[in-house]
Order: sequence, then C-alpha cells, then structure tokens
Amino acid sequence: MTFDLRSKCKSLRLAYIPDIYGKIPFDNPEQYVNDLFEEELKLRERAKITRLIKKAGFLDRKSLETFEWHEQQMRLPGQMTKERLYSLDFIEQRENVVLVGTPGTGKTHLATGLGRKACELGFEVGFYRVSHLVEELENVLRLNRLSAFRKRIQKLDLVILDEMGYLPFGKEGSELLFQLISECYEQKSLIITSNLEFSQWNRIFTDSRLTAALVDRLIHHAHIISFHGESYRLSHALSKRR
Ligand SMILES: Nc1ncnc2c1ncn2[C@@H]1O[C@H](COP(=O)(O)OP(=O)(O)OP(=O)(O)O)[C@@H](O)[C@H]1O
Ligand SMILES: [Mg+2]
Repeated sequence: MTFDLRSKCKSLRLAYIPDIYGKIPFDNPEQYVNDLFEEELKLRERAKITRLIKKAGFLDRKSLETFEWHEQQMRLPGQMTKERLYSLDFIEQRENVVLVGTPGTGKTHLATGLGRKACELGFEVGFYRVSHLVEELENVLRLNRLSAFRKRIQKLDLVILDEMGYLPFGKEGSELLFQLISECYEQKSLIITSNLEFSQWNRIFTDSRLTAALVDRLIHHAHIISFHGESYRLSHALSKRR
C-alpha cells in the first residue's frame, strides 16, 4: 500500500479504512471523507455487537425473530406487552423479568432472544445455566478468585440465569448464588427462567429464610411472565412421527 496508510490508520486506531477506502464512491472530498468515516463507524459497531454476543455465552443462536409470540399460552403482568418487553426498557430501569412455566414452552428461547437483542443495543450481557454458575462460583471460591469473578458480573447490564430450580444446590452453592443475586439487586437487570413457581423455591435452596429473602429481592422490580400449554419439543416430535 502506498504512503504506508495501514500503519498510520493503526496509530489512529482506524481498523477498517485501509481495506475499504478504495471501495467508497468519490464525488467530492467532503462526501468521500464523510462516507469513509461512516463506513468505519458502521463496521466498528458491527464488530462490537459480535464481541458482545460472543462474550455473553449464549448456548445457541435463537433470536426474537424466530420466537413465535403466542399470547394465549403466556400470562403477562398488567402494563407489559410484547412491544414493551422487546424494547428492553426493563434493562434501562434495572428491572427483572422472570419467565416461569412448564418444560418446552419457549422460556430459554425468549430469554436468549432478549439477551441477543440487548447485545445488539450495546448492553453487556452474561448468559448462565444456573447449575454451571453455581459450580463456577464454588470453583472460584476455592481458587481465591471470587472477587474477580464478582467484578466481572458487576460490569454486566443484564444477567440471564437459565434453569433456576432444575437442580438443587448445597448450602455453599445456595449462599454464593444468593450473594450474587443480592449484589445485582437494583444495580442491574436479571432474566430468570424456571419451571418452579416461587412458592416452590424452597426446594432449590436449602435454607427457607434465604429463599424468602432471595424471592423478595427478585420480585421487587420484576415482570413475571408465566408460560403454559404444550411443549414445543413434544409437539415437534409428534408431528415428525405423523
Ligand atoms: N414460541 C416459540 N417460538 C419458536 N420456537 C419455540 C417457541 N417455544 C419453544 N420453541 C422451541 O422449542 C424448543 C424448546 O424451547 P425452550 O428450550 O425455550 O423451552 P423451555 O421453556 O426453556 O423449556 P425447559 O423448561 O425444559 O428448559 C426450542 O428449540 C425452542 O426454540
Ligand atoms: Mg429452558
């Protein structure tokens, strides 16, 4: 490349210009520089979203675009609508969303879709299967790295805890998870998926006082959406057999 443009762009932290400057149509200098910088900004934004999605640790590529909204199989709290949920204003408000209901009804799909959209809007997201998170909390505690791990969680705007209550935890795990959720309280948003109603959460945590304190924090600023109806997995399997 003439004039060593690449190294100058590197010094100026312009990552894309060396590759795109020849592809931008030229009418006049002002338009050219404007369009060139606009393209640099667009590509930077796209790279940032890709980075946020990768960092979030989603388990699959499910999105809101592929989620079929069946209002008759969901119970939404007053004030909540599909549009409001999809606008993600609950993240700005540091409110929680709890998706609760029977297996295969789309809770994880919706949580993942909301998380992916949050990344597209520039939010930092972390997606965790609760049982893996508890395991990781126990590991980092043993390795004396708990505070570094907590700091990472504190940087997130949205924490998704998938499958709360599918596996019970021991005393240490319960306390670590409780601490983590307490630290998120009113500081950031949580999306939790579960197939247990709150009244049954005593089954997940060993200590009923801890469960009550945890549920109290979670539901204080929460939109609780319940799912009922047939499992998608089951109806898919049955339709394939037919
Ligand atoms: N409303 C929906 N629109 C599109 N796909 C759906 C919908 N609901 C469920 N599915 C699909 O059905 C499968 C099961 O959904 P999902 O994993 O979200 O269920 P779940 O409610 O989290 O179940 P579980 O409680 O067992 O974890 C997934 O492949 C998902 O993409
Ligand atoms: Mg699920």
